[in-house]
Amino acid sequence: MDFAEKIERIRQQAESDIRGAEGLPALESVRARYLGRKGEITEILKGLRLLPPGERPKAGKLANDCKVALTELLGARSGELAGNLEVKRLKDEEVDVTLPAGMKYPGKLHPITRVFDEVIRIFASMGFTAVDSPEIETDYYNFEALNFQADHPARDMQDTFYLSGGKLLRTHTSPAQIRIMEERDPPLAVIAPGKCYRCDADVSHSPMFHQVEGFLVDEKVTFADLKGVLTAFVHGIFSPDVKLRFRPSFFPFTEPSAEIDISCVSCGGAGCRLCGGAGWLEILGAGMIHPSVLESVKYDTGRFQGFAFGMGIERIAMLKYGIDDIRLFFDNDIRFIRQF
Ligand code: DAH
Repeated sequence: MDFAEKIERIRQQAESDIRGAEGLPALESVRARYLGRKGEITEILKGLRLLPPGERPKAGKLANDCKVALTELLGARSGELAGNLEVKRLKDEEVDVTLPAGMKYPGKLHPITRVFDEVIRIFASMGFTAVDSPEIETDYYNFEALNFQADHPARDMQDTFYLSGGKLLRTHTSPAQIRIMEERDPPLAVIAPGKCYRCDADVSHSPMFHQVEGFLVDEKVTFADLKGVLTAFVHGIFSPDVKLRFRPSFFPFTEPSAEIDISCVSCGGAGCRLCGGAGWLEILGAGMIHPSVLESVKYDTGRFQGFAFGMGIERIAMLKYGIDDIRLFFDNDIRFIRQF
């Protein structure tokens, strides 16, 4: 094989290797194989000086032309591969601006709002109207008109947040009874949902919390009506197989008064950690509206009677959703809210 033939073979092999290189690293090793420090062409150029002087110019030209041709081809292939890379990158990063935006985290209703809505819906189905009432109250509406004696412990500074000018933050929603009865004549059936405040904080008490007050005034209202309404409510908010228990109790603004327990939503009454082994959970206060409350709003007590009830919304939400710390409602941890 003469020199020209040898160069031609190397060139053909190199050309096919260059075309076959499928990436810049592969192309670089092809370059090294032929044109690197120990590359085939490099070696040939180094060996030229061993040829007889007469053959050197021709052989030198052949080898050099081959080197130039391969260098050019490498440059072209490298540009091609880099271009492919760029095209691929652009394709990968392509954004379809006509697609609708993905709603990653749609808003959720706070569990307290959900329970409020459900309580209002159940009472509305029984003919109760929801009414707003103020959170800033006076001693008269929060206590006096509700028949709290002057020395009642709930008036103590420790429970009530007092404001300047004889005002206070209402400690319960019961003042709504007075506000609404002052404005409207019986018959009426009202629920008053809203925020309440007490100077109290632990796993089951928050300084701000929510209650729903409810009351109904008409002729011939009896305790049996109260039982019927509360039973329908409890069955609606929890489940129809939850049992109710009415226990005698005391509130200044009702007579007789009762506390209402439900059979434990966790164990069904058998006794567990949630109900402290009792099988019952207290969820409501209620009673027949005290005549002195009706008198304070100048209702004819000879003709009208009423019942009233009040409940804590956090307590109901905790039982419904199995939440064991009231503070979770108000920490504003988005991971908590997203679960509802
Ligand atoms: N206001 C009471 C409280 O905050 C709850 C309550 C009990 C409301 C009995 C009522 C009722 O209307 O009849 O503890």
